[in-house]
Amino acid sequence: MSETQLSGTEKTATSGVAGAVTTAGVGTGTAAEASMLRVAAKRARADGVVELELVGPPGRRLRDWAPGAHIDLQLPNGATRQYSLCGDRWDPLRYRVAVLREPDGRGGSAAVHDQLAVGDEIGVGGPRNNFPLVPSEQYLFVAGGIGITPLLPMVVQADLLGADWRLLYGGRSRTSMAYLDELAGYGDRVVVAPQDESGLLDLPGFLGTPRSGVRVYACGPAPLLDAMETACADWPEHTLRTERFVSAEPAGPARRTPFDVELARTGVTVRVGPERTVLDAVAEAGVDVLSSCRSGVCGTCETEVLSGDPDHRDALLTDHERAAGDCMFICVSRSRGDRLVLDL
Ligand code: FES
Repeated sequence: MSETQLSGTEKTATSGVAGAVTTAGVGTGTAAEASMLRVAAKRARADGVVELELVGPPGRRLRDWAPGAHIDLQLPNGATRQYSLCGDRWDPLRYRVAVLREPDGRGGSAAVHDQLAVGDEIGVGGPRNNFPLVPSEQYLFVAGGIGITPLLPMVVQADLLGADWRLLYGGRSRTSMAYLDELAGYGDRVVVAPQDESGLLDLPGFLGTPRSGVRVYACGPAPLLDAMETACADWPEHTLRTERFVSAEPAGPARRTPFDVELARTGVTVRVGPERTVLDAVAEAGVDVLSSCRSGVCGTCETEVLSGDPDHRDALLTDHERAAGDCMFICVSRSRGDRLVLDL
């Protein structure tokens, strides 16, 4: 999917199928462990979208995953990017991701499109899942463009389980929308709405009257997800789950003055100035926390908060989870108060 994420996920380091190697040098900090996988296939899936098929050594099973999961790709240009798994979760031998070329991106998608070739080996971290499909008898899925990638395995699973589900899938045009062929077999459960044919998505019309017992999953560009949050404002709490391509840009940190972070396991206290991340500050104190995206979207650096008031700046936690204040993503999140105590 888009350079990102992604969107919600579990936050443990990965061990590998092909002999885990610890990769370093993807930016700063400690990168999540990764396995080396081979690009077995690379094919165009839509305008500007290529699909990668990744495999381990012959016959080697890959780590299991569930719909909504993503993997980290350590790309030829040295960047690490997160992409949603969009293949068959029951195929233990291969992962599939699809990557949209982003001309204004930070270079990750260009590396996939222009540098990565069939036969190349790349580091793959994960899978992790910040966007899990929770049990429900009814699902409404809304995808915008490449946001179809995490939702495609959800659709497959919901259908296998016999749930009542529908998908609204928008994009600029049909030729820009990946996996229409795989969705065609679901008939009128899938509403395909390219913007050049039908205009903006009719979210209220698709969602209908607010009601309980429905789970709504959405992935796509920020304007779509913002519109989804507005459209679902009157629905029961926790109905809507979204996955953003990039961490939403908060207006600014809650404070611009230094704060202290106490590392409870060692008793060390480090000062975090306005130009440093908590992740970097604790690393300088000798405590390496696994990280990957360093932008609050992958979930790798999740850290338990023992006391203090975190200034959450990630794209992962729900409002409810933020209010609980018992964990934070220290690559981006900061402190509202003078002191945080972390379980490090
Ligand atoms: S490293 Fe990805 S959320 Fe912190």
